[in-house]
Formats: sequence, C-alpha cells, structure tokens
Amino acid sequence: MKNFATGLLFVTFVFCAATIAAADRETIAIIGTGDMGDSFGQRFAALGYTVIYGSRTPNSDRVKKLVALTGHGASATTQQEAARLGDIIFLPIGWPAMETAAQNLGNIDGKIVVDPSMPWTQGDDGYPESMLETSSAEMIQQWNPGAKVVKALGTMSSLLIDHPDTVDGPVTIPIASDDRAAKERIARLIDEMGLDPVDFGPLRMARTIEALQMIYLIPLMQRRTTEWEFVFRRNADWACKWEDDWSTPVIDADNLAKMPDKQKPPIPCP
Ligand SMILES: NC(=O)c1ccc[n+]([C@@H]2O[C@H](COP(=O)([O-])OP(=O)(O)OC[C@H]3O[C@@H](n4cnc5c(N)ncnc54)[C@H](OP(=O)(O)O)[C@@H]3O)[C@@H](O)[C@H]2O)c1
Repeated sequence: MKNFATGLLFVTFVFCAATIAAADRETIAIIGTGDMGDSFGQRFAALGYTVIYGSRTPNSDRVKKLVALTGHGASATTQQEAARLGDIIFLPIGWPAMETAAQNLGNIDGKIVVDPSMPWTQGDDGYPESMLETSSAEMIQQWNPGAKVVKALGTMSSLLIDHPDTVDGPVTIPIASDDRAAKERIARLIDEMGLDPVDFGPLRMARTIEALQMIYLIPLMQRRTTEWEFVFRRNADWACKWEDDWSTPVIDADNLAKMPDKQKPPIPCP
C-alpha cells in the first residue's frame, strides 16, 4: 500500500513537473511546412514547445498528417494567424516566395523571427549565387522593423535536425542578429537541440552565413552522384593563437551575447 502511494505521488510529481515545464515554454510558429518546417516542428514539439504550423493549406491532408505526426498539442492554421500566436516565429520558406510571405505576417513587433533561408539562384555558369545584394535576414528585418530577426539554423540540412547523431559530436551553428537578447534566446534553443551555437555578430553577418549555406548546392549542380554534407565546427582552442594581435576588436567586444560555451580546454602550442 505504501509502495502504491509513493508510486502515485511520484507519477503525479513527474506529470506536474512536465506540465509546468511545457507551460513555461514559448509557442513556436513554423511558417512553411516543407522539408525544414516539418523537421523543426517535430523537434521543437519533442522538446516540449507548443508548435503552430502556418501554412497556405492548413486543412490539407498533408498538413493534418504532419500535425498528427508532430503531436504534443501541435496545430496548424494560416501563416498570418500562426505569426500572431507564436512567441518565436520560424520562416523556413524558399526564395522568392519569402518576399511575399515575410511581408504579409501582420504585426509581429517585439517577436523573435528566425530565418534559416537561402536566397539563391543559379548564375550563367550554373553555380549558385545570392539573389540579393544584402541578405534574406536583413530584408526580413527591413520589412518587419519591430521584429527581432535572427539568422540561424540554415547551415545544415533538415536531415541533421532529424538525425543529429549521424555526425560525430555537436555541429556548430552561427547566429547573427542586431538584438542581443534574441540571439541569446535562440542560442539556448539551439543548445537544447544538441547543437553548438556561436555568436556571429550583427545581422549583416547573415550575408556570410547565407554564403556558407550555398556550399551544399554545388555537388547537386555539378550533377555528381554523391553529395556532401559539410558541418561547421569550432576549432581546437590553441593556446598560442593570440600571440600576434593582428586585428582590431569589434566595436561591441565588451558586450557580446552570452552563449552556452562548448569550447574544450586549450591545447598547448605545438
Ligand atoms: N531543406 C533543407 O535541408 C534546408 C537546409 C538549409 C536551408 N534551407 C532553406 O530553408 C528554406 C526552406 O527550405 P525547404 O527545403 O523546407 O523548402 P520546401 O520544402 O520547398 O518548403 C517551403 C515551404 O514554404 C511554403 N511556401 C512555398 N511557397 C510559398 C509562397 N509562395 N508563399 C508562402 N509560403 C510558401 C510552403 O509551405 P505551405 O505549403 O505549408 O504553405 C512550403 O512547403 C529555403 O530557403 C531553403 O533554402 C533548407
């Protein structure tokens, strides 16, 4: 009898703790239910976030199936309604569709908007190049000046979100934003995903991140029979690397975002 009562108390405690943890978590709107959107949605729901998909066809069989697969109270609605309900908004949408989608989200002032997209097209020689003079993230920020746009999570494939164990150790994810608190919030989310967030500076550094993303496309356009998955990784922390102080520090060097630090101990110089 005592064992039963203790067991019941334990189950109640675990249930309450899980409920409180889930209730504490923000709602994440995933606008776009394609390859990346369905990976993000299922991953965040499994981490205890409430996921709302924003789709052009929220009532289609395909989206209903995704919602069922996602579970954990996930739902689907229009893109605008999902953006209204989400505390954090993900935009896994391709270009040029992003242009109309990101300008029609409604009032998203104060919300964090994560852009993993890649605004690419093929050049005359068939190789990928950016469609923009700046970056997707900067365009989204320009269209939604009250939002806190963060560039992140497009430097690896959706397969890695689904199967993070296929590579040896956590993959490093560069994050760029002009909003320090938003960068720190998304860094914690990335950490929860088992990945390694690093501060890549202001939003304009999205141009460099988007250029990195294009590496994937090259073998496809070369029509190679094999593809490559590159992953961005931290260097070893060589103890000797700062002996030559060759660079000028960034202007906010004393005020950088606080990131979960997965750097291993320094390696002695060779
Ligand atoms: N797939 C990857 O592994 C990967 C990796 C890194 C970066 N990315 C980038 O992430 C973005 C999304 O990639 P993806 O592979 O998920 O693309 P995708 O499979 O084509 O999905 C994009 C989704 O955007 C929505 N959409 C399409 N046209 C739209 C329009 N005109 N207006 C509004 N919404 C529209 C659709 O969702 P609904 O049908 O629900 O409306 C669609 O499923 C791209 O920029 C891509 O370059 C992808």
